[in-house]
Amino acid sequence: MNAQRKSLSGDDLFRPATLGPYTVANRIVMAPLTRNRAGPGNVPQPMNAEYYAQRASAGLIISEATQVSPQGVGYPATPGIHSAQQVAGWKLVTDAVHARGGRIFCQLWHVGRISHPSLQPDGALPVAPSAVKPEGMAFTYQGLQPFVMPRALEASELPGIVEQYRAAANSAVAAGFDGVEIHSANGYLLDQFLRDGSNHRDDAYGGPVANRVRLLLEAAEAVTGVWGADRVGVRISPVNSFNDMSDSDPQATFNHVAGALSSLGLAYLHVVEGSIEEEGYTPGAFDFRQLRERFAGSYMANGGYTAQRAKAVLESGDADFIAFGVLFLANPDLPVRLERGGPFNPVNADRFYGGDQTGYTDYPFLDPGH
Ligand SMILES: Cc1cc2nc3c(=O)[nH]c(=O)nc-3n(C[C@H](O)[C@H](O)[C@H](O)COP(=O)(O)O)c2cc1C
Repeated sequence: MNAQRKSLSGDDLFRPATLGPYTVANRIVMAPLTRNRAGPGNVPQPMNAEYYAQRASAGLIISEATQVSPQGVGYPATPGIHSAQQVAGWKLVTDAVHARGGRIFCQLWHVGRISHPSLQPDGALPVAPSAVKPEGMAFTYQGLQPFVMPRALEASELPGIVEQYRAAANSAVAAGFDGVEIHSANGYLLDQFLRDGSNHRDDAYGGPVANRVRLLLEAAEAVTGVWGADRVGVRISPVNSFNDMSDSDPQATFNHVAGALSSLGLAYLHVVEGSIEEEGYTPGAFDFRQLRERFAGSYMANGGYTAQRAKAVLESGDADFIAFGVLFLANPDLPVRLERGGPFNPVNADRFYGGDQTGYTDYPFLDPGH
């Protein structure tokens, strides 16, 4: 199915490309980055619009993970897309990005078990495919607190979860986004269903991978019903152990996931090709080419990419787009810096999560008069 793919040169990283119905300025993507700087009510605010507008030279910006519902919340001050105020807040962001000629997709997020009663409506238990408590601590407004045993979702509740994605997809249209990315990575709800370390169900949503992928496929069908498949991507992280995730056979699991998603005709498959650990990115033993072979849309690679690695992977034909996380966070004008070979700003990791403009909108541009 990939015989039609045209071969690319390394410098195509900096040239216009087709992504779904769009011609984007380059193949450099801003990876989704949670920054915990939404205002009260989990509403995006003008400071957030400035941050994203600064990064509009990306071919595509993927927004920070954005809750599809109050139940989907797992951290303080993360934005949602389920209230009218949140939609209005996001409109500030999308307008600012479009005014600079950029494109922005919304990353749709439900955290599942990676939450805490203090973050849930009415102090409820977080929900999950199965009652399996993750190791580790939840980030709450009262500081770090141990994760609690989540409540296993009833099969009868799953259509309601799918509806949360459909409603959020509709809200993303109203908020002026160019498309959406379904977050099925990094140990959040849809990933909890995919991997057998967290999914112990014995109904139609558990057991063989054809069952474990069902909720993701139903959510994707709901979202593509709103947006059309060519404006929808899905993010997966086959070997990421973050949030206490594991699978007994990641290659078989995610080969199946890639093939199943391919049949929906999605714009892209976004793959975190490693594990996000405390110290940074660690590559894992996994053959990512097998995913690309099974997925007909664009393949977006992420995880520890430099300009050199990005060019090499385009040349080898193993990816169409490269998403940059920390480098984009710290360099608002990343495409021009990658093209010129740097220099790159020092990263202020203490200001990743929460706070004000410091370590957020104050990273300098290479050309002061940008
Ligand atoms: C501060 C920070 C916030 C992140 N937030 C998200 C997020 O909201 N959604 C997501 O899918 N990944 C998130 N990630 C993971 C990044 O998108 C990316 O996969 C990771 O940083 C590896 O890419 P890199 O080596 O280019 O930084 C986050 C990473 C960092 C460092």
